Amino acid sequence: MYANNDKASARPKLTVPQLRQYKRDRRKLVALTAYDASFAAVLDASGVDLILVGDSLGMVVQGHDSTLPVTLDDAIYHTRCVARGLRSALLITDLPFQSDATAERALDAATRALQAGAAMVKLEGAGHKLDTIRFLVEREIPVCAHLGLTPQSVLRLGGYKVQGREAAAAQRLRDDARAVMEAGAELLVLECVPSTLAAQVSADLAIATIGIGAGPDCDGQILVLHDLLGVGTGHRRPRFVKDFLCEGGSVAAAIEAYAAAVREGRFPGPEHGYAG
Ligand code: KIV
Repeated sequence: MYANNDKASARPKLTVPQLRQYKRDRRKLVALTAYDASFAAVLDASGVDLILVGDSLGMVVQGHDSTLPVTLDDAIYHTRCVARGLRSALLITDLPFQSDATAERALDAATRALQAGAAMVKLEGAGHKLDTIRFLVEREIPVCAHLGLTPQSVLRLGGYKVQGREAAAAQRLRDDARAVMEAGAELLVLECVPSTLAAQVSADLAIATIGIGAGPDCDGQILVLHDLLGVGTGHRRPRFVKDFLCEGGSVAAAIEAYAAAVREGRFPGPEHGYAG
């Protein structure tokens, strides 16, 4: 096995305060998930800005039907693996189901994530999570919020469905987005919401939004790595997914093609978004 991270060494490490500068400069943030050191190194060398150890690992690595079985130990193990492959990208770790059920539990979980190499933790929802975001941020833990389709709520939502289509739900999402920013979140993932709503939220916030199934007007985009490579366990492919491997020809070329398409505003296209 040979590691080749030469291209990445030219890039300085992306830091949390720089995320707002990207937003001010209208520079798109390119994000992907990763779960191991080898793919992390390829993503880093291909110019990906943000790497998420997502609890999607429960589905694409472990083969479960949802993210609910993922444990904090799983997330920490994969964070350590990914961190070893990175030089420049900013590493975010998902707080798995119920590891953020109370602010104190979230602090323990987030501390472990940062000690494993993450620079930021992601947690789903608003409501009582606003106090948790505040609690973490006051204790020097950078937070990425996640609204819209929050996969840890799949049982309550009754499936993986587009969120924020009705006027009241759209207003709630706009209010929640402002509230997570005011609580101290430095980044916001918007998943499966109408493109127009995501555009409004992105225009309203001083922090960057990262879309997945949220249209072209977010400040950055994220995909699950396996979706970008067309690898899966046979689950239904959502409409926002694009297989970049079939046009890229190699893993590195596919990731570079994705990064270029996001930066140049060519991905996602209208066919990848949802109407209100
Ligand atoms: O778990 C994950 O990979 C995620 C992304 C889909 C945003 O939360």
